[in-house]
Amino acid sequence: MTNPQNVHETLTRHQLTDGYPMVLDLEKSHGSWIHDSRSGDEYLDFFTCFASWPVGYGHPALKEAKFNEELLLVARNKPANSDLYTTHMADFVDAFATHATPDGFKHHFWVAGGSLAVENALKVAFDWKAHKVGADKVDDGNALVILHFRQAFHGRSGYTMSLTNTVKDKVALFPKFDWPRVHNPGIEFDLDGGIANDIEASEAKAKAEIEAAFAKFPNRIAGIIIEPMQGEGGDKHFRTEFLQYLRDVADEKEALLLFDEVQTGFFGSGKPWLWQHHGVVPDVVAFGKKSQVCGIYAGPRIDEVPQNVFETSSRINSTWGGNLVDMVRSRKFIEIITGDKLMDNVAQRGAELVDGLRSLAKEKGTISNVRGVGSLAAFTLPSPEARNGMMKDLLDRKLLVLASGEDSIRFRMPLIITADEVQTALDRISDSLPANVRA
Ligand SMILES: Cc1ncc(COP(=O)(O)O)c(C=O)c1O
Repeated sequence: MTNPQNVHETLTRHQLTDGYPMVLDLEKSHGSWIHDSRSGDEYLDFFTCFASWPVGYGHPALKEAKFNEELLLVARNKPANSDLYTTHMADFVDAFATHATPDGFKHHFWVAGGSLAVENALKVAFDWKAHKVGADKVDDGNALVILHFRQAFHGRSGYTMSLTNTVKDKVALFPKFDWPRVHNPGIEFDLDGGIANDIEASEAKAKAEIEAAFAKFPNRIAGIIIEPMQGEGGDKHFRTEFLQYLRDVADEKEALLLFDEVQTGFFGSGKPWLWQHHGVVPDVVAFGKKSQVCGIYAGPRIDEVPQNVFETSSRINSTWGGNLVDMVRSRKFIEIITGDKLMDNVAQRGAELVDGLRSLAKEKGTISNVRGVGSLAAFTLPSPEARNGMMKDLLDRKLLVLASGEDSIRFRMPLIITADEVQTALDRISDSLPANVRA
């Protein structure tokens, strides 16, 4: 096996290696701590592989003999799950549909990768709208479009690149569709958690642009897609009122309301899905990351078209239809998360983190717009340079975090995080903050 000291050198000979300097030790990493097999150092993990690793490292339930036997059996194989079924798949689908999917969503579709989950959500909408308007009248669907938001991140695959507009290099120069993109009325929070910006004016701007888009593309907008909280775009939270407005518009204009919960979903917010905090029910939800298996679940509006994609063979599909190893691991995660009440844990720990960050902001003045729910939290720095500098400093202090938008840092905690670990993170952030620099 490659010596840990040579991992980066070996990889660099064959590929881009612009990731972290450490080498993840899967044996010695534990709970919320990543062990670096290169240096022996331990990092507090508020990165969680881009919000995709929910219960930390080496969870005892993942070491149970029976589970490991099943995992190994499944890992020795790789069935085409959409067409060749197993007991392992049935166990997973049943667990997901019972504990993760909210009531009222009877359709599921599984695939590998968050972008492809979103891409298939778009296909659900295109197919639905094409049938609604009479496919012949929309030129084989070519004229259909998806309404989406500025600073959205929905992935880097074919269709999703037409939606993603965060970091330019991620989509620039690749051919894309010119679909309607509108203002994203994100909340800015004051240091007591109140709304600091003129949110009504911001929402009015978005609404005017949405109305203009529906006027420009009459009967051609198949879906409205939004991350209920934009992650990569800057941890932008939206008001329930605005999401409800989107629901109303989607109903009125015969478009589907699509929520991208690839980053926010699967128990990370203290509820199974972030949209449940708002109570605004979407038509289709795309998920991925923490769920291990990516995909979509969809509700009854889809059935207004009887020959919808969930009823028509191969309208949406892929060879593997997800990955059976991921399904077995995902089922185990659902057992751990529900059994250990990790939603309650992360809701409390998240509140402690946000409270602590707001105290630091009041005391030190450098950070602003502290925001968050459950495992998902963020704050803003005075400039992109200040943000980048602080990210480097936090890495030196062995706290792993993520960038968000141009000038924010986001935290994506494991759901098993403890109160002490939240305090450790706050101490490291505090030590990193220069005092009295006003944002
Ligand atoms: C909101 C959102 N949608 C889609 C994706 C794409 O997922 P993947 O990188 O698994 O293709 C991401 C990934 O960060 C995401 O955050």
